[in-house]
Amino acid sequence: MDIKQYAHENHVPIMLDDGLAFLLNYIKEHDIKTILEIGTAIGYSSMQIAKLNKNIKIDTLEINPEMYELALKNIQEAKLEKQISCHLIDALDFVSDSQYDLVFVDGAKGKYRRYLEHFLPNSKLFIFDNLEFHGIVDNPELTNNRNTKSLVKKIRTFRDEILKDPNFKCEYHKNVGDGILVLKTNQY
Ligand SMILES: C[S@@+](CC[C@H](N)C(=O)[O-])C[C@H]1O[C@@H](n2cnc3c(N)ncnc32)[C@H](O)[C@@H]1O
Repeated sequence: MDIKQYAHENHVPIMLDDGLAFLLNYIKEHDIKTILEIGTAIGYSSMQIAKLNKNIKIDTLEINPEMYELALKNIQEAKLEKQISCHLIDALDFVSDSQYDLVFVDGAKGKYRRYLEHFLPNSKLFIFDNLEFHGIVDNPELTNNRNTKSLVKKIRTFRDEILKDPNFKCEYHKNVGDGILVLKTNQY
């Protein structure tokens, strides 16, 4: 079964088509070769990125052992293991001296601020997905679920603060995918 179909049938959240197309295009246009991804899931986005160019190298972090095992299997079957290194770890425990051309953040949506602070020494460029959270961030009345309400509040706070922060240059693509933020530090 194709990975995208598997994800849909098994409720594995993967990037939306237009968000992924934006990300792939950005990587090509900016000649990005080294990437740290937070949130592997079953390897869908990292595999699409790796297929762009044989010289692209990705470290991808996943906290869930079942997802990690599936990602490893999918990446090996696609013979992409030389380009993609999967790490079974909480992203906030991953410490590296590497400099990445890009950190792509697609892990726990309520931890975006912490991921940014944790990985600031590792990159000057970050892309975050899901800052709309299916339209609920701007319309919290769309949900009655208390956890979702609390999550979208955190996303909203992160988004509002980061867009005003003079330490970063941000481009926010509200209508791309599930809301994509491109953030450059002032050293970029
Ligand atoms: C939206 S999915 C990633 C989808 C993937 N990037 C794709 O488009 O194919 C988010 C993943 O992040 C993982 N995750 C959540 N918190 C994490 C953390 N603190 N560290 C690493 N992975 C985390 C979840 O287990 C989940 O598999």
